[in-house]
Amino acid sequence: MELIPAPRRIFPNSPGRDVLDEETQLETGPGTEGVARWLRATVGAATGLPLREGDNADNRIVLSIDPELPPEGYRLVADGQAMRIQGGGAAGVFWGAQTFRQLLGPDAFRRAPLRPRREWDVPVLSVEDSPRFRWRGLMLDVARHFMPKEGVLRYLDLMAAHKLNVFHFHLTDDQGWRIEIERYPRLTEVGAWRARTKFGHRASPLWDEKPHGGFYTQDDIREIVAYAAERHISVVPEIDVPGHSQAAIAAYPELGNTDVIDTTRLSVWDTWGINPNVLAPTDNTLRFYEGVFEEVLELFPADAGAFSAFIHVGGDECPKDQWRESAAAQARIKELGLADEDELQSWFIRHFDKWLSARGRRLIGWDEILEGGLAEGAAVSSWRGYAGGIAAARAGHDVVMCPEQRVYFDHRQDGGPDEPVPIGYVRTLEDVYRFEPVPAELTPEEAGRVLGTQANLWTEVMEDSARVDYQAFPRLAAFAEIAWSGLPAPAERDFAGFERRMAAHYRRLDALGVGYRPPEGPRPWQRRPGVLGRPIDGVPPNR
Ligand code: ACM
Repeated sequence: MELIPAPRRIFPNSPGRDVLDEETQLETGPGTEGVARWLRATVGAATGLPLREGDNADNRIVLSIDPELPPEGYRLVADGQAMRIQGGGAAGVFWGAQTFRQLLGPDAFRRAPLRPRREWDVPVLSVEDSPRFRWRGLMLDVARHFMPKEGVLRYLDLMAAHKLNVFHFHLTDDQGWRIEIERYPRLTEVGAWRARTKFGHRASPLWDEKPHGGFYTQDDIREIVAYAAERHISVVPEIDVPGHSQAAIAAYPELGNTDVIDTTRLSVWDTWGINPNVLAPTDNTLRFYEGVFEEVLELFPADAGAFSAFIHVGGDECPKDQWRESAAAQARIKELGLADEDELQSWFIRHFDKWLSARGRRLIGWDEILEGGLAEGAAVSSWRGYAGGIAAARAGHDVVMCPEQRVYFDHRQDGGPDEPVPIGYVRTLEDVYRFEPVPAELTPEEAGRVLGTQANLWTEVMEDSARVDYQAFPRLAAFAEIAWSGLPAPAERDFAGFERRMAAHYRRLDALGVGYRPPEGPRPWQRRPGVLGRPIDGVPPNR
């Protein structure tokens, strides 16, 4: 019963077992059809059992909704005859089904049964569970390195297995534009690939001299959103403005500050860091991005998940040098009666804040967006630390806590010399396990505005899924427990107990084919000897 994330309560009722075999039937209550589909597709495939629909009184799995339970809460009872999974809503039943799969053992995470066929059972027990946070997120940067669609679907499955429910999809950046926008085909024709790529930190002399790229068609996006919805995961797309936009400017040079630089000479960026080539604050740029967002709103419908009304507009790391030099930007500042370039940035964000609100959607952005004041309903991803999140919560905004000092999983997970391309702080599995998303200085009312937390995976030094797996796991398992389980204060958390449960969880990750970092250090092929990173001790990093 080494469950991860830990449930609130487990009651081992008696020493018996509930057997799952050819006779086991699945009784699908109203509203739980999606969970039944998922169980047959996963547990059905792993066990080779038919899990036929029916109500065999001696041997069945019963899925049902009990509105008395919290919406994402569930009760799982195995009594020797029936295995009942009741949820406050379909999401709760789904999370209960995840627990059920863990109870079956690691081989339940395979895609086909092993030979010889074995018996399947779960212990007689009951579990009562519900999440601490509503927003339990993972951000994946598919701009720096593209992750083909299959890999994204796999990450949605990995999130579901850890009861994570918000996929923050970082779709655009200086190094790539990854979403097809029909009215602007050059965004992907030009913006979705680059000729070569810096290998390692930006100070590294190495280049990977092969083209890199890829993008999701609109149908790919629809498939991803639907696949996520079936798993009770909301997809929050991020279109980053007004910084992190060189790929868009390379595709449509008029989006840049054409009176400062010759933007026709820009290409999709092939190295890393904070890029000076930002969007021009013109009407043309605003209209262009309204066009982008119109298609984005259609592709990411507000009713696809609990947090699907949110659209992330980035808003981070926008250097103001070009705006300082640009006569057009300066004229705009004057015309709008703004004090300076910082106010120009906030005018830009507020434009989309109003635009999204008028369409019934909610803006979310990195904590820089707070600086010029925000419309009601906008939310903040607090990344530069806790301060932005604290200020946002005090100003009445919802907050997602994802401080880079704690939950940026591009940062190295060990201080030893074998970590591949070591970036940033050392953040071990235990460090993540002791992360607390809600700062003590918030009043209970302010703390209530912390929707939850998310881990962020920036992929400058993760060139493929294997590298993403290595950086994400096992830390994402610890993170899932922070986000889901009502853990005590950090110093009181039972990390030794968590590590004992991880012994079982590593077997599940093995069955799922996850290339995690083993506790004893990287496997030979997980190392990147000779590729420069940027280890940091103490000072905030600037990747
Ligand atoms: C960020 O890491 N620039 C949000």
